[in-house]
Amino acid sequence: MDKFIIEGPTPLKGTIPISGSKNAAMPLMAASLLASSPTKLNLIPRLNDIYTFKKVIEETGTSVVFDGGSNSMVLNPANLHNTEAPYELVRRMRASFYMLGALIGNAGEAKVSLPGGCAWGPRPVDLHLKGFEAMGVKIKLGQGYVFASIDNASVEGGEFTLNPSSVGATINLVLGAVKRAKKFVIKNAAKEPDVVLLCRMLVEMGADIEGIGTDTLTIQKVDELKGVEYSNDPDRIEAGTFMIAAAMHPESDVTLTGCRPEQLGKFPESFNKLGVECTIDGSVIRIKSTDNLQPVSVTTKIYPGFPTDLQAQWATLMTQAGGTSMVTDTVYFDRFSYVPELNRLGGNLKVEKNRVTIVGKTQLSGASVMSTDLRASVSLVMAAMVAKGTSEILRVYHLDRGYEQLEEKLNRVGASIKRVPQ
Ligand code: EPU
Repeated sequence: MDKFIIEGPTPLKGTIPISGSKNAAMPLMAASLLASSPTKLNLIPRLNDIYTFKKVIEETGTSVVFDGGSNSMVLNPANLHNTEAPYELVRRMRASFYMLGALIGNAGEAKVSLPGGCAWGPRPVDLHLKGFEAMGVKIKLGQGYVFASIDNASVEGGEFTLNPSSVGATINLVLGAVKRAKKFVIKNAAKEPDVVLLCRMLVEMGADIEGIGTDTLTIQKVDELKGVEYSNDPDRIEAGTFMIAAAMHPESDVTLTGCRPEQLGKFPESFNKLGVECTIDGSVIRIKSTDNLQPVSVTTKIYPGFPTDLQAQWATLMTQAGGTSMVTDTVYFDRFSYVPELNRLGGNLKVEKNRVTIVGKTQLSGASVMSTDLRASVSLVMAAMVAKGTSEILRVYHLDRGYEQLEEKLNRVGASIKRVPQ
């Protein structure tokens, strides 16, 4: 296991290229299992979550060749013979649960481990299972596994309303339905760019999906999907993270390249209230910070609302704003494990139910901190980059799951981050 040693404070100055999206890549990888010929995916980031999902897929007999140098991946399900996703892999990463939809689509049956809890709460999969039942798939639970099967080559389908709207359940149901359900309608479907990208790729493969990008998806069965070459989206959460990181130090001036700013939803609305200069030109976002950062309260919502995956970073930024602000998470109610650690660095944050109140501006100072998940970890890195002195961030394996070359990217624009064995 590694840790980071970070010296601060350091302004960030220069250009950071944005990598491919982790959360969009995995559904595309799962969709490749539905094709009758190989699929080539581009802009796939070199991340531990991607390597884990590659292993899960390889368990089935599918060949997966990942060329990290060119960020491209070729998946060929021609030899898929095993329809199980085992506990030891699924427990490492919840997105492995996409194998349920992918295997129902490919083989008409699946045995997939239930993912279990996660660092910030139970994170149920009840909607995935109820949705498949509504489609006509038989679902049984036993020994910690979901056993899914269908009687004939296809099921009748039907209609299912997601309440609440869920990214993962929408993706799983789409994967399961495209080759198996005569007609299946998903209401209150997630509209996140990750869902849109998956549906567009499936349509290119030959699927029949209507309502892409809206909250009602209508899927009609097709007999065959062919492999395609398709490009992943850039990571909007990585872009948002670096925008926030740039705003944290008054002298920072950072240019982000390879972005899709329109996929940031309402995030720029909040960002523009900070007093920071933010210019968007095509796929390039430039952030010039300010020494008079304004407190801005935010509430997370499903897309296009303020993303829950940026709330920890935002609360961290607010430690540097001149006044009091609040961050409320309505998607997850207990995603605040970073708060005690930020307070150890000198922050003044208090959690009550699903809301954290931040009193700024506080001078942060170096300390040893540890975190429990990806977005909490990156927030601690951001805090350490403006804290006075030396900080130690323990358990950086969380970061390796979801930020491609984080320390290399940040060191190139002026940070001082060393990775050492823990
Ligand atoms: N929910 C249920 N039942 C279900 C599924 C979801 O009640 O069966 C609830 C959840 O508890 C939550 C809400 O629905 O309150 C939304 O959860 P969703 O299913 O949309 O989340 P997810 O698909 O499990 C993805 C991302 C998360 C991101 C959320 C919300 C991936 C692999 N994960 O999770 O990303 O926070 O959507 O946008 O795409 C991250 O990248 O750090 C991360 C955790």
